[in-house]
Amino acid sequence: MVNENILKINPYIPGKPIEEVKRKLKLKDVVKLASNESPFAPSKKVLQAINKAAKSLNRYPDGSCFYLRKKLAKKLRVLENQLIFGNGSDEIITMAMRAFVNPGDEVIIAKPTFLIYEIAAKLSGAKVVTVALKDFRYNLKAMKQAITSRTKIIFIANPDNPTGTYVTKDEAQNLLDGISKELIVYFDEAYYEIVTEKDYPDTLSLLKQGKNLIVTRTFSKAYSLAGLRIGYGISSKENIDFLNRPREPFNVNSLAQAAALASLDDKSNLLKLRMAVKEGKNYLYKNLEDLGLKYVPSVTNFILFEVGLDARRVCQELLKLGVIVREMAGWGMDNFIRVTIGRAAENKKFIKALKSVLNKK
Ligand SMILES: Cc1ncc(COP(=O)(O)O)c(C=O)c1O
Repeated sequence: MVNENILKINPYIPGKPIEEVKRKLKLKDVVKLASNESPFAPSKKVLQAINKAAKSLNRYPDGSCFYLRKKLAKKLRVLENQLIFGNGSDEIITMAMRAFVNPGDEVIIAKPTFLIYEIAAKLSGAKVVTVALKDFRYNLKAMKQAITSRTKIIFIANPDNPTGTYVTKDEAQNLLDGISKELIVYFDEAYYEIVTEKDYPDTLSLLKQGKNLIVTRTFSKAYSLAGLRIGYGISSKENIDFLNRPREPFNVNSLAQAAALASLDDKSNLLKLRMAVKEGKNYLYKNLEDLGLKYVPSVTNFILFEVGLDARRVCQELLKLGVIVREMAGWGMDNFIRVTIGRAAENKKFIKALKSVLNKK
């Protein structure tokens, strides 16, 4: 018989790959604005590093990510044993559940939020306690009130996916004040490098003050390496030791390690992305407003908006026009779509297609 926890979860449905849409719908020109990736390819320097590393693909990767660990620890001003690497930051969410959560323990998450928290928690046999968003933002007061003696981890996607809103420094501090040292607050900062808000929390300094945090970041978004799957976690050395135990020995492949190492120096790609996000956001806001559609102001590279009718149908029609975006039914938001901010031409194609689907000029 199957593990009974498996029966409690719905499989994660990712954004459709470009090639699949081209193949199935016989389209030549398809844009993907569905998975919050960077629209820019990795830089030449990063591609060269990948090429060089490819020559040793007959060998297993370095299970400790030695060079990347050294460089990142220096950059973040943390100890090398305060870092853990994952096959995407997703993997660290699962490791945290495996390492810290016993069946029947409680895990607090927002609703809706990034779907992997719930899937990973249920897989570990945890009781998932959900706290509704308020005005599309995390309600940290209510999350704090939901803490019981069985709570093991509180997950905070900052910024949140799918809303694009964020938790401020003061809100984070208020949550942490007075809570049990045993309780882990997990800040998922997958979009950290894209956020420019001044009151965004400095979680690494909170960690240095001794707060019991796990902070995760990724090379998938700002560093243009989603296809290689590499992310990392920062925590106390004690927590990292526990996180390391359920980790598979070679969980981060050697191309990913080489690319991540090279991309840490690559400021120009990040600046290019930030500029594209800023300009694209203004363009999309204006056009959504012109269409009379409500959106949630975002601090990152995607926008959640309401179409006022079944978003699944709208997304199907957009697909036929070669535009992949994400309908939010899986998040319980049937009339909502999440669009990733792409390059100018991609944003334009999306708006043109949306106008045509909604029959507006
Ligand atoms: C909030 C959040 N956390 C984590 C991830 C996963 O990132 P990774 O590619 O590092 O697994 C995503 C990806 O969309 C995300 O939106």
